[in-house]
Formats: sequence, C-alpha cells, structure tokens
Amino acid sequence: MLVISSPTQMREFSLKARSEGKTLGFVPTMGYLHEGHLSLVRKARGENDLVVISIFVNPAQFGPSEDLEKYPRDPERDKALAEKESVDVIFHPSEKDMYAQNASTYIEETMLSQRLCGLSRPGHFKGVTTIVLKLFNIVQPHTAYFGQKDAQQALIIKRMVRDLDVPVNITVCPIIREPDGLAMSSRNSYLSSEERKDALVLWRALQTAKKKIDEGERDSRLLRTGMREIIEPKASKIDYISISDVRTLEEISEIRGEILIALAVFIGSTRLIDNMQIKVPE
Ligand code: PAJ
Repeated sequence: MLVISSPTQMREFSLKARSEGKTLGFVPTMGYLHEGHLSLVRKARGENDLVVISIFVNPAQFGPSEDLEKYPRDPERDKALAEKESVDVIFHPSEKDMYAQNASTYIEETMLSQRLCGLSRPGHFKGVTTIVLKLFNIVQPHTAYFGQKDAQQALIIKRMVRDLDVPVNITVCPIIREPDGLAMSSRNSYLSSEERKDALVLWRALQTAKKKIDEGERDSRLLRTGMREIIEPKASKIDYISISDVRTLEEISEIRGEILIALAVFIGSTRLIDNMQIKVPE
C-alpha cells in the first residue's frame, strides 16, 4: 500500500493506472476509520482494479464554532485498517497542499444545500463540494463511494456531478450501524457512556416513524411530533426532525412517494445525524 501526500504524485499515479486500462475506485474520508468507512472500501474493492482512499480533515467544511481542532485523528490506526482491506493508496495531503494561501474559488450547490444541515451549518456544503471536486480532480477516479449516513451530502455530490458534467460515477452505500442501532460515526467517540445510551433515541425515533408509516400513518406533522417525544428527554438540543421529498429535500405534509426522514440532534455537546429513506407504496 502506498501513502501519498503530494497531489501531483497522486494524479500521476492515477493517470498512469488509467492509461494502463485499470479502473479506480475512490473513497473520500476524514479518517478515524470505522466499519461505515470500511463498508465503502469493501464495495470499492469488489468493483475496481485499484482502490484509493483519502484522509483529510477538511477545514473548509467546519464552521468557526465547530469541532475542527478536536476532530479525532489516528493516521497509524487508519493505515493498518486500510492495509487489511487491501487498499492500494492512501492519499493523505496536508492542509497546505490542498489550499493555496490565497485560494478564492469555491463550488456551491445552491438548492439542496439550503435545507436540513445547511440551515444550521452555513457554508458546510460549500466546503464539502469544493474539497470533493478537488479530490476528484486529483484522484481521477472512475467511481467514488459515499455513505447514505450523510444522505444530504450524497445528494448534493450527485447534483454537483450532474450539473458540472464531472466524469465520475457516484455510488451510495447503506448506513452501517452498531449492533444496538446507533449509526457509526467518528464523532461517536465524543460520547460519554451515559450519552452513548441516550444516543439510541435517534434510531428509536426513526424506527418508530417507519412502523407508523407501515401501519398507514400519512400525516408528517404527527410523525414528527411522535419522534420529538422520543428524542426530547435525552437530547440537549434538537437541530431538526425533518420529513422531506428525497428529490428536493422540501418538507412534506403528506407522506407519499420516496421520502427522507432525517434527524440532527445534540446529545450532550455532540451533534449526531441519522436518517432513513422510505419508499411509500401508492
Ligand atoms: P467522513 O465523515 O469521514 O465520511 C466519509 C464517508 O463515509 C462518507 O461518504 C460518509 O457518508 C461515509 N460514512 C460515514 N459513516 C457511515 C456509516 N455509518 N455507514 C455508511 N457510511 C458511512 O463525509 C465526510 O467524511 C466528508 O464530508 C468528505 C466527503 C470526506 C469530504 O471532506
């Protein structure tokens, strides 16, 4: 396995591989790898000749009061995990390598990123789309793999790729959960043992909503109230409980078609997100 930090070397590696007719699968991450990340790596491994993962905690997608400094990092452990999954290259650039001091060009998706997390994290998705396009330009993958855990992020990346004719296929993979249902996340490491138990309310609320929909409930206000009642006792703050049309992320009042139920909740000082996509039968 190669560890490459220079963007130029990374691109040279990829261009050579492509010229030899090899397919490149790419998994962008911020590191501190867990089974969620590794599920994307395994999917990429099964579908490509070469697998590249990037590890870069991207400052541009963190707000001024967010957790950039304390975001968990463990490059040595990440390296061992990647090696075990037969990753070919870890691209691990420095901040200086990725952003020129006077960088002044950004990529901004303007519709989907106004909703859900976009409301409480202004500028976040602009940071994501900018880094992801930069990574695509450097790594030159045939296919890139994203997790449904960040459903809005995946939708925005697909929109960017479509709108800007970026020559990369996007594959979205299912959410990987702990045995008790908590969606895996690097940020789960912030939780105390008490908070870790409280964090289960997100999954419980999603499951309850799904059950009610299966039983015929179609009023999204009632579903949201039901979820709030489950979450509120354990949350220090609810950022949002959203039920939206998965194509537009616009809130809906009547449950129909393909919907996204999405949550962002603070457990203690840790902001957790989770979601469930549901296709409602006609
Ligand atoms: P990060 O949070 O490290 O996640 C990297 C990828 O792993 C994302 O596509 C995310 O959706 C996926 N992922 C995380 N937890 C998952 C889980 N429990 N199940 C399935 N997939 C999961 O998302 C980012 O980094 C950054 O925004 C990035 C795209 C790298 C740009 O900086």
